[in-house]
Amino acid sequence: MYNKRTVIPGLVILVFFVTFPFWYNGLSAGPVPTPELPPGGEKQCVAPASEMRAKHMKILNEWRDDVLRNGERVSITVDGKEYRKGLQLACMQCHSNKEKFCDSCHEYADVKPYCWNCHLTPAQLASKKETL
Ligand code: HEC
Ligand code: HEC
Ligand code: HEC
Repeated sequence: MYNKRTVIPGLVILVFFVTFPFWYNGLSAGPVPTPELPPGGEKQCVAPASEMRAKHMKILNEWRDDVLRNGERVSITVDGKEYRKGLQLACMQCHSNKEKFCDSCHEYADVKPYCWNCHLTPAQLASKKETL
């Protein structure tokens, strides 16, 4: 007795996580993404890179809740510079090339965050400014 509708997706997710270190580290045949580091030359992220790799989705959700639900529009300091908590206000200030950074991994992992339905990418923001 098992429910196909939950077991099959469950297995798919399990296989994904179990095999992740292998294909992520390039032991598989596919080209491994090489996310472009911030073109502005920043050297540090809001957390160590290994932590960011594993947890950036969680951090983004926490930030969104902090800002929108708890009204904490606080700043964070990275390498002596202040950023306001936010997707566009912090992450994209450094990772200003979404296509070469975020997308390079997401296309590889086949994840499509829906954030950009509403949030503007730096490229969209720039083209919007031009038309104003
Ligand atoms: C339906 C539209 C919509 C979608 C989809 C959406 N957001 Fe937002 N988000 C908003 C709005 C509106 C705000 C509020 C902006 C403000 O008040 O400054 C916001 C604020 C935020 C903030 C806090 C401050 C800021 O301006 O960045 C974060 C972080 C955030 N969203 C992350 C995400 C992430 C990550 C995703 C995708 C997983 C996402 N959002 C998807 C509409 C959306
Ligand atoms: C102050 C500039 C800055 C901000 C703000 C910033 N990052 Fe980063 N990020 C970096 C740098 C620099 C690295 C590379 C760090 C390293 O290699 O040690 C990095 C690394 C990463 C990585 C790992 C990349 C890899 O090669 O594996 C991810 C994922 C990431 N950032 C996502 C985000 C997200 C999501 C946000 C917003 C919540 C964010 N970053 C905010 C500068 C920034
Ligand atoms: C080092 C590779 C890498 C980089 C760089 C990266 N991501 Fe991701 N991201 C992933 C992987 C892999 C997943 C899905 C797997 C998971 O949930 O553990 C993911 C998932 C997400 C999710 C959750 C999507 C969902 O549907 O659940 C969001 C939101 C997200 N990333 C935002 C970003 C943003 C914004 C950037 C650029 C600032 C970024 N990521 C850069 C690898 C990366």
